[in-house]
Amino acid sequence: MTESTRRDHAPIGIIGGTALADLAALEAVETHTDIETAWGAPSGPLVRGHLAGRAICFVMRHGPGHKLAPHRINYRANIQALADAGCRQVIAIAAVGGITDAMHAGRIVIPDQIIDYSWGRAHSFYDDEKGGLLDHIDFTEPYAATLSKALVEAASELNLDPAAGGVHGVTQGPRLETAAEIDRMARDGCDIIGMTGMPEAALAREAGLDYACCAVVVNKAAGRSGGAAIHAEIEATLAQGMADIERLLVALTPRLA
Ligand code: HPA
Repeated sequence: MTESTRRDHAPIGIIGGTALADLAALEAVETHTDIETAWGAPSGPLVRGHLAGRAICFVMRHGPGHKLAPHRINYRANIQALADAGCRQVIAIAAVGGITDAMHAGRIVIPDQIIDYSWGRAHSFYDDEKGGLLDHIDFTEPYAATLSKALVEAASELNLDPAAGGVHGVTQGPRLETAAEIDRMARDGCDIIGMTGMPEAALAREAGLDYACCAVVVNKAAGRSGGAAIHAEIEATLAQGMADIERLLVALTPRLA
């Protein structure tokens, strides 16, 4: 039995995105580089460790060196690896674009809804007999309310002024969008836009995991930046966003049951 399983039988899963390539505050206990799930290998090593005294399992969504494009990520393997590691709760970190005015660069957002514009991704465990008996999961509320509430509370305590709720539009990428696409998404009701929120959230639900998203806005979406170059805005925002997310995770993890 490893130290992490002795101290805590249900580690918290953390999926790091562009806004969180690694976790400096994580005391790594073990790094598993050779994980193979029923759905293939996850994006990168699974790091087991402790964050603020809680056992966690950390996986980098885009893999080491940020090489995996959103449509090439094996979302099933990432979720399965966390489930196999004993996680019951998963916090998904994401860097996103801001569509509505309130979603300015640097804003922490805990979305409560999703619109999925992605396509062609392996989006379900019910693909073959490995997935077991078909269940049409209820996805009315795509995120786990208790986890999302804990994220909002921890962020508020740190005076990070989080947006509690918002519609997360998920596009295929890897290109950024056209201004007309963003106008359409705004008409649809999207507040923020990212490329990796789906099928990850739905797979977590299929796997029976509580899953919440903690997003940080790193740029204004295409056509909404007032002429500012998107990449320059992302560069300028990412480091502070990562630092805020890390502080938030340190404040969050001890709160989780
Ligand atoms: N669009 C899509 N995904 C993103 C963006 C964006 O503007 N910023 C960060 N992820």
